Amino acid sequence: MESNALSISCAGLTLNNPTMLASGIMGYSTESFQRIANSGAGAVVTKSVGIQPRVGYVNPTVVQAESGIINAMGLPNPGITIFSEEIKFSKMILRVPLVVSIFGYSAEDYAEVAKKASEAGADAIELNVSCPHVKQTGAEIGQSPKLLSEVVQQVKIATNKPLIVKLSPNVTDITILAQAAIEAGADALTVINTLKAIAIDVETQTPILGNIKGGLSGAAIKPVALRCVYDIADQFKIPIIGCGGIKNWRDAVEFFLAGASIVQIGTAVADNIEVFQSITKGIENYLRKKNARSVKDIVGLAHRK
Ligand SMILES: Cc1cc2nc3c(=O)[nH]c(=O)nc-3n(C[C@H](O)[C@H](O)[C@H](O)COP(=O)(O)O)c2cc1C
Repeated sequence: MESNALSISCAGLTLNNPTMLASGIMGYSTESFQRIANSGAGAVVTKSVGIQPRVGYVNPTVVQAESGIINAMGLPNPGITIFSEEIKFSKMILRVPLVVSIFGYSAEDYAEVAKKASEAGADAIELNVSCPHVKQTGAEIGQSPKLLSEVVQQVKIATNKPLIVKLSPNVTDITILAQAAIEAGADALTVINTLKAIAIDVETQTPILGNIKGGLSGAAIKPVALRCVYDIADQFKIPIIGCGGIKNWRDAVEFFLAGASIVQIGTAVADNIEVFQSITKGIENYLRKKNARSVKDIVGLAHRK
């Protein structure tokens, strides 16, 4: 095995190891990004930021589910103008790539936020397309190939940084959305965001979350996420960042075998910030055991006929 077996170059980013912090887990501050980098993450993705500051939904915003959590934070964020200062500060300190996750309610919104985040020094932009589209209340931008394509095209014009599109699993066929993102110019895909879910209290007989519905994450969604990665890798050559329920090296390796080149870890970080180190160590041991020179050697192997 080569000494740099864990490092990976993918979609214009070079990581020391194939793990990233998933968006939304450690907020917006340089201190928390630095903590995550120090605990072994190969890159950090920020919580999603939009044009204007937003307070988010009323409490409760998170509820425990079996083998996971359901959250409906409502995208609380300081807005890109204030957050740009934090991006600049983070870039002076962080020694790992900083991916800025952005959201919007129209293609123009996305383009403006992407432009400002790029100017502030983001190493890449990740599009969170799971937020509702105002003109089509209830539907997510990431559920419509047409809207998704418009957003990706506009952002592509606004930035020359690597563009990662994070796909929603709340669709009938995720490969149709993957195709729309790829044809519109995505450099990589993050697969997947949370699954739409609900929790109900039997005593009060009402939904628990302030927003009624939220997104399920954690171990419960791993098989779904893995299937989405597998389906996309089966049809397209684009780099895939696997995300959903990853908590140990074995989970990460399953995603590589399904076709991902990098993995993101979210919910598991809340339980154990050291998870990046233990996953990386486990991947290294696995590669050695299988006589693989690098992660690239095992990407997509589960597709062998
Ligand atoms: C509390 C919480 C907040 C999140 N916020 C965001 C966000 O702002 N933007 C986004 O794209 N994804 C967000 N996510 C989704 C995660 O990035 C990830 O896609 C999802 O949780 C699945 O990965 P996991 O099972 O490892 O947590 C959030 C997830 C959680 C649990």
